[in-house]
Amino acid sequence: NNYQLWGGRFKGQPNKALQELNNSLPFDARLYADDLDASKAYAEALTRAGHLNDAECDKLVKSLELIRYDWIERLVQFEPSDEDVHTVNERMLVALTGELGQRLHTGRSRNDQVATDMKLWLRKAIRETLGRLRQLIQAIAAQAETHLGVLMPGYTHLQRAQPVQFSHWLLSHAFALREDCLRLGELRDRANVLPLGSGALAGNPLGIDRLWLAERLGFAAVTGNSMHAVGDRDFVVDFIYCASMVSLHLSRLAEDLIIYSTKEFDFIHLDDAFTSGSSLMPQKKNPDSLELIRGISGLITSNLTGIMMTIKGTPSTYNKDLQFDKQYCFQAYDKLAQSLDIAVGVVRTLTVRSEQLEAALSPDMLATDWAYYLVRKGVPFRQAHHHIGRVVALAEQRGVDITEVPLGELQQICAAFGADIASVADYGANVQQYACVGGTSTASIVEQLRLLKKLDKEL
Ligand code: ARG
Repeated sequence: NNYQLWGGRFKGQPNKALQELNNSLPFDARLYADDLDASKAYAEALTRAGHLNDAECDKLVKSLELIRYDWIERLVQFEPSDEDVHTVNERMLVALTGELGQRLHTGRSRNDQVATDMKLWLRKAIRETLGRLRQLIQAIAAQAETHLGVLMPGYTHLQRAQPVQFSHWLLSHAFALREDCLRLGELRDRANVLPLGSGALAGNPLGIDRLWLAERLGFAAVTGNSMHAVGDRDFVVDFIYCASMVSLHLSRLAEDLIIYSTKEFDFIHLDDAFTSGSSLMPQKKNPDSLELIRGISGLITSNLTGIMMTIKGTPSTYNKDLQFDKQYCFQAYDKLAQSLDIAVGVVRTLTVRSEQLEAALSPDMLATDWAYYLVRKGVPFRQAHHHIGRVVALAEQRGVDITEVPLGELQQICAAFGADIASVADYGANVQQYACVGGTSTASIVEQLRLLKKLDKEL
């Protein structure tokens, strides 16, 4: 049962602790299907190059399918000599086919094999991540559509700034996630280049048709330099960067929602299913789901620095350090998937407190629109800004709203004020003026929703 890929020149077995550290099965077993897919294609490429006959190829392909069945049925048993998923698959193949199985690795190295497997895996991971992102964007868009017309205070520096629509704020998060989708789509297309046929580092001398292999495995092209191909993990770093970016966006959404769900804001209520209580304080309802989403972004970005530090000191081509890429990559993927699933649930089930949102508006938030009022009367914006600043200071000094300063006094500050300033007190009408593309008017928000709906076609 001791199936080792490289024993010939060695006297004994490797040190136990080294074997344990070297064993990547706990992490890379999940690549089994990709490894089998790549091996099937490689068997066919060997056949095309005249190293196997059709019957042999057929036998290998069928045996690889039997091994897949064993994985799916959890019948695979690991041996102490198994180093990684590639060793296990080859050991089982040789058990099934004897000498024939020993021919599969002709001209191939685990170096081009693992890079290929990772790219096959990544393709699926990107597809699944995009699926989850689209679900979240849809959940956000649905809430935005339902609550179209509800106003709220918009903040900068977490200070009250200007009235906006609740939907506009919520969609700002969907637009961040839309960027993530486009980024992942770019990575999917750019990374879709086949390393197989690069051998250990020097390439393949046995007539393997790499272009055929690429087409067979759904890659758009083949890597152009074998030494680069076996040492390249850029695509893993890129994916973890994309995942980090998503996690940062989720963290910011979570932070907004945590603040807005406090009693002090009371803008939204979280569904009980996404909160938990306190072991001590009976009244507590804590936004654990959102805190975990915020916390996970730290974990995922630590994966990004982890993989970058791993690559940093390695000389060219393959080095065993690279084996750690899987731990970083898979953890980033898994944690992001959890995070996205929870975010979808939170957004779908949250209650929007429309009355509280609108009640939180106050006339000071119209100061900018007052300045625009003067601008429309012909006052240069810098002067208008200064005049309204004086109105605000006066109101503050008296302890009243700017809307309560008498017209006569307004006119002493700036002669352009007229009785029609009263019309600027309507929050809704003001919001509708922000009708440029990307603004907070209803027409603009409807357009934003349309853009998000056609995201599928852009990917
Ligand atoms: N398990 C290894 C990895 O994931 C496969 C490559 C091993 N290559 C080698 N030359 N030892 O990196």
